[in-house]
Amino acid sequence: MSDETKKTPLRSQLWFDNPENREMTALYIERYVNYGLTRDELQSGKPIIAIAQTGSDLSPCNRHHIELAKRVRDGIIANGGVPLEVPVHPIQETGKRPTAMLDRNLAYLGLVESLFGYPLDGVVLTIGCDKTTPALLMAAATVNIPAIAFSVGPMLNGYFRGERTGSGTIIWKARELHAEGKIDDEQFAELVTSSAPSVGYCNTMGTASTMNSLAEALGMQLPGSAAIPAPYRERGQMAYATGKRIVDMVREDLKPSDIMTRQAFENAIVTNSALGGSTNAPIHVVAIARHIGVELTNDDWQTLGHHVPLLTNLQPAGTYLGEDFHRAGGVPAVVAELLKANLLPHPGALTVNGRSIGENCADRETENPDVIRPITNALMQDAGFLNLKGSLFDSAIMKTSVISQEFRDRYLSNPDDKDAFEGVAVVFDGPEHYNRMIDDPDLAIDENSILVMRGAGPLCYPGGAEVVNMRPPSYLLKKGITALPCIGDGRQSGTSASPSILNASPEAAAGGGLALLRNGDRIRIDLGKSRVDALVPQEEWEQRARDLAASGGYQIPPSQTPWQKYFRELAEPFSEGMVLRGADEF
Ligand code: FES
Ligand code: MG
Repeated sequence: MSDETKKTPLRSQLWFDNPENREMTALYIERYVNYGLTRDELQSGKPIIAIAQTGSDLSPCNRHHIELAKRVRDGIIANGGVPLEVPVHPIQETGKRPTAMLDRNLAYLGLVESLFGYPLDGVVLTIGCDKTTPALLMAAATVNIPAIAFSVGPMLNGYFRGERTGSGTIIWKARELHAEGKIDDEQFAELVTSSAPSVGYCNTMGTASTMNSLAEALGMQLPGSAAIPAPYRERGQMAYATGKRIVDMVREDLKPSDIMTRQAFENAIVTNSALGGSTNAPIHVVAIARHIGVELTNDDWQTLGHHVPLLTNLQPAGTYLGEDFHRAGGVPAVVAELLKANLLPHPGALTVNGRSIGENCADRETENPDVIRPITNALMQDAGFLNLKGSLFDSAIMKTSVISQEFRDRYLSNPDDKDAFEGVAVVFDGPEHYNRMIDDPDLAIDENSILVMRGAGPLCYPGGAEVVNMRPPSYLLKKGITALPCIGDGRQSGTSASPSILNASPEAAAGGGLALLRNGDRIRIDLGKSRVDALVPQEEWEQRARDLAASGGYQIPPSQTPWQKYFRELAEPFSEGMVLRGADEF
């Protein structure tokens, strides 16, 4: 941001101890002492540290930060700083309608104003539930004052009758069982709630664990911080260490732009592949990169990440859950395996503790080689994302770590003899249409069908719906067909193991080719060439485009709130990080 944010002396002294404006200083001091702070605390050169608080009763995933913030405060005070807790607009993945993704940019905007406009020298970012991590890192990137992220940690492992039940992932399983008539409504609720036994965020490698782990891989969290389960004592101890460290970061003037370099983002992409991370990661990480001024594209995810093996055996790509991940060594143990195999591109990248990621992780060992695998026993080779292109979109992400072995062998793994996969489109306009129609036998969905979801992108379903992972109709489930290829301009929950083609940009409502697709069209998916095309003659395709334009284009439903309206006017496509147009100029 502006030079005003560069501080020697402390930025907060412009408010609290400004020799050039004693009157304003007195006015600022006057109000901040009214709840018991002393003039000495505000005027003796102590760094003023924001704790950007994302926890609230509305945000159960992050609610434990209300407790943890006390230990963060203790750490700040112990190292000579003054803590000020700052509320962040709530973003609860499971509670917010129409989607929590809509509010990522709103929370970002709000926090930018708080960090820029108030007497703050540094900030602790309390991250956790999916969108809280990118929203806070984006704001720290824009304002660029010293910042350290602190994860709330995952929930404890869920169990049902002795089997691990992972948040989110169990819902997809339970939906299948329910659709097949194997469980009733009551059993459905019991099975699903078993996955949430404590405070914390999703215990699977969904978007929350992914983004918290990537905050560490980017260098923005203390080593080992991402994976500690929320209720463990180490979580409170890490809160204290984080509070202490941010005060020194202010003294050292160690800023996000020193840490979140192009090198750090490349490390994060590689780590994401080894983690089996969420397909929401490219949207968020590209957004963070844009706000810190680093160029990063979806092509980078394929070029830098696709060849990396899957090392982390966590649901949905694997078996285990968050407690197992922490006990096996967490992110440092994954990075250590990558280092051993020379796969981490930039071991010298700086982190918040002032040391490089290589120095932090080199001597870490996996404590459970079934949970965090050595490279010689990887769960899967070439496990990173593909960035697909073609007549239906300019960019769409596919998570290859959840593709079945049979499908991989046939379509992905054999580079000299790659078949393309062809299927017949069954098109749904938004999740309501899908839910109404999926079990209708007239659609004649069979094993050659490709399910297509459009009208679910950032403009049409403001923020973009997590709905592209579509279960097959119940009559196919009963025959044992549990997955069909899915394509869509919406997103997919990071907890889903569906091999979908996601985040298609531009979306149907923004002129993307998905808008022209019809039931019965053949689609060719050539993973070897990273292409997806509709096999419709060019002339007919162009005629459809003219017809759609003449009818006023793909319909966008009316906005329900002022923010939905502003968001629709300003949001860029998923492939560009869904940032607000122009916001990355700051
Ligand atoms: Fe909040 Fe998964 S719903 S972390
Ligand atoms: Mg910037």
